[in-house]
Amino acid sequence: MKYGYFDNENREYVITRPDVPAPWTNYLGTEKFCTVISHNAGGYSFYNSPEYNRVTKFRPNATFDRPGHYVYLRDDETGDYWSISWQPVAKSLEEASYEVRHGLSYSKFKCEYNGITASKTLFVPKGEDAQVWDVKIKNDGDKPRTISAFSFVEFSFSHIQSDNQNHQMSLYSAGTSYKNGVIEYDLYYNTNDYEGFYYLASSFDPDSYDGQRDSFLGLYRDEANPIAVEKGRCSNHVQTCYNHCGSLHKQFVIQPGEEVRCVFVLGMGKGEGERLREKYQDFANVDAAFAGIREHWDSRCAKFSVKSPNEGLDTMINAWTLYQAETCVVWSRFASFIEVGGRTGLGYRDTAQDAISVPHSNPEMTRKRLVDLLRGQVKAGYGLHLFDPDWFDPEKADVEPSKSPTVVPTPSDEDKIHGIEDTCSDDHLWLIPTICKYVTETGEEGFFDEVIPYADGGDATVYEHMKAALDFSAEYVGQTGICKGLRADWNDCLNLGGGESSMVSFLHFWALQEFISLAKHRGKTDDVEKYTIMAANVREACEAHLWDGEGEWYIRGLTKNGDKIGTAQQTEGRIHLESNTLAVLSGLASQERGEKAMDAVDENLFSEFGLHLNAPSFATPNDDIGFVTRVYQGVKENGAIFSHPNPWAWVAEAKLGRGDRAMKFYDALNPYNQNDMIDTRIAEPYSYVQFIMGRDHENHGRANHPWLTGTSGWAYFAVTNFILGVQTGFDGLTVDPCIPTDWPGFEVNREWRGATYQIKVENPDGVSKGVKSLLLNGEAIEGAIPAQAEGTVNQVTVVLG
Ligand code: GLC
Repeated sequence: MKYGYFDNENREYVITRPDVPAPWTNYLGTEKFCTVISHNAGGYSFYNSPEYNRVTKFRPNATFDRPGHYVYLRDDETGDYWSISWQPVAKSLEEASYEVRHGLSYSKFKCEYNGITASKTLFVPKGEDAQVWDVKIKNDGDKPRTISAFSFVEFSFSHIQSDNQNHQMSLYSAGTSYKNGVIEYDLYYNTNDYEGFYYLASSFDPDSYDGQRDSFLGLYRDEANPIAVEKGRCSNHVQTCYNHCGSLHKQFVIQPGEEVRCVFVLGMGKGEGERLREKYQDFANVDAAFAGIREHWDSRCAKFSVKSPNEGLDTMINAWTLYQAETCVVWSRFASFIEVGGRTGLGYRDTAQDAISVPHSNPEMTRKRLVDLLRGQVKAGYGLHLFDPDWFDPEKADVEPSKSPTVVPTPSDEDKIHGIEDTCSDDHLWLIPTICKYVTETGEEGFFDEVIPYADGGDATVYEHMKAALDFSAEYVGQTGICKGLRADWNDCLNLGGGESSMVSFLHFWALQEFISLAKHRGKTDDVEKYTIMAANVREACEAHLWDGEGEWYIRGLTKNGDKIGTAQQTEGRIHLESNTLAVLSGLASQERGEKAMDAVDENLFSEFGLHLNAPSFATPNDDIGFVTRVYQGVKENGAIFSHPNPWAWVAEAKLGRGDRAMKFYDALNPYNQNDMIDTRIAEPYSYVQFIMGRDHENHGRANHPWLTGTSGWAYFAVTNFILGVQTGFDGLTVDPCIPTDWPGFEVNREWRGATYQIKVENPDGVSKGVKSLLLNGEAIEGAIPAQAEGTVNQVTVVLG
């Protein structure tokens, strides 16, 4: 079953049936004001933080996604009413037709019902902390129609819903007022004129309005049948206390063939409603603001675009995977329909990995995140697993937060810094490849010399921070010389404590390789020597203790009692994805062992929906291994298709030179390929998800937790850098693809440091890997392409063979 299709020309996903088995969401906003919105217009807005400055309410985990940002229409001759989005009124699909276009930072809702075609486009203009609703209502019939339009949002008492409920004061500390087409919502406790006011404004002079939710909806009713819409008029009720909404109503008489247009604006800041109402009364300003959003993504997507024989890959890489990756860099793991904003902290490892994917499209944000993370690193070298970047931002540290002091206690320094027992063994290591990618992308070599404080006092250059991270992992090893598991490694549910984690040692090796190239580039011979020896020791320990001769793969680790996890002898958790893929990705495994390990991955972990994290799932609780043994079988970290490490397998296969296998793994996970299987997949086909139920679960193939997953960043990085093989390095730009043997070639357009590279790869001999020749503007060159002058357009021709 399918519910829609990809419109690649417009970079939109078009939903043609609204009765999708789950809310399919989108993100509006490219700066501080954000809305997470579903194809039913359910969702919520916030400013800066989904935990605080929560502008509209949302009730998560309900059977439908409410409330939302709705426009109701009413035929004032018959009293019949509907909503432009299918929900909340939900007219029968026999009578009404709906289309939703989720685009990059906008969503467009369209409804045809009873001779009226109406649309509503939601987006957040650049430079404004507000959401615009551009509404058009057209009379398709041959008689004049009298149609009322009503907006509806439910304002939030700033905090997330659970806090709204826990703090009874929230009912008595806010109120609405109305003036000149603007309903203003005053968070009375908050003395800040900007963050203390939300509003809903309209381009028209309203015929009626409501600022009190219960007046608009009516008692014992809900968003599906508001009393105000039923009656055709709001009650003009605003006041302090209780629950609040923004509804502005206008009646239009629409002539045959005529289209009327009006705009609603939802935003924050005292007086801002009036300003923006005036601005967007001129619809040319609405059109310009919308064009600004289009331009924003046009320029980002233009940094890397591909034309290959795989349409699904092109669709995802040219728009959706980059878009998802950028969303993750900004919102980490805290603003979706699953993670509904209960935290604002950055996940250390998640952010460090997300940021590796976007230095070309969003260098400013990549840099900001790197600085946030470096400030969240302690002198001992490890990272604070979860922290609020504001804690360590010198510009914000001394500013009195405008958040309610009763709800947001300022943590003491001791509460911010945790000790080794709460440390995750992998967090800090992900920083190293990301920092190198940021600098090779931008050329900002001075970043390595920038002095950044540690979270627990003192400071050091970025280069020294990187050494501290590597040294920490060299020190915290167990008896066999493999890195200790600590609270968890990449796998949150593998809690080895003093046991040992193979994946962290492999990750350490990868980080060491990246650092050694950096040290060579900077001429730091002492460091080259020291870290080359360190890497050799890691390799020796790994090869001596982690290879399972019987299974011919790498084990996952050792418990604190020295028991091996992930051997051919075991019946549960016999083989794992993370250790085998990272052994190869890191460059540690030999070609021979690498091929065997990845063959075992293919044989034991592959499914039509992607690679399982482990198999068979754990069925017996074992606290020496961790919480993973207490998770249902086939779910999340226990034997699901956990998406995030899947791209590690694509990179591993690409490094081994096996392009057909890399593409087989890529295609299996690609949501695009599951567009016609939504009854199994359930989740959006344009977004990677955190995990897909594994074969040990009855819902095998069901996809869960869309949007905020490290999969997107890794998928983007793996495809662009390793399958298509266009990489930045300290020496320049390299093109070294690993593709399926049946690809005759492909083209990439890459913007790098102000110059454009039009790369054409030809594959006359049907190989996967190996560059036979490379021409830059017609001249043969060996190795990397040096950065060309800004503004130039350069032709790169690569022949494989
Ligand atoms: C979630 C977490 C991530 C972790 C992964 C595996 O995706 O956000 O940090 O690595 O689960 O446990």
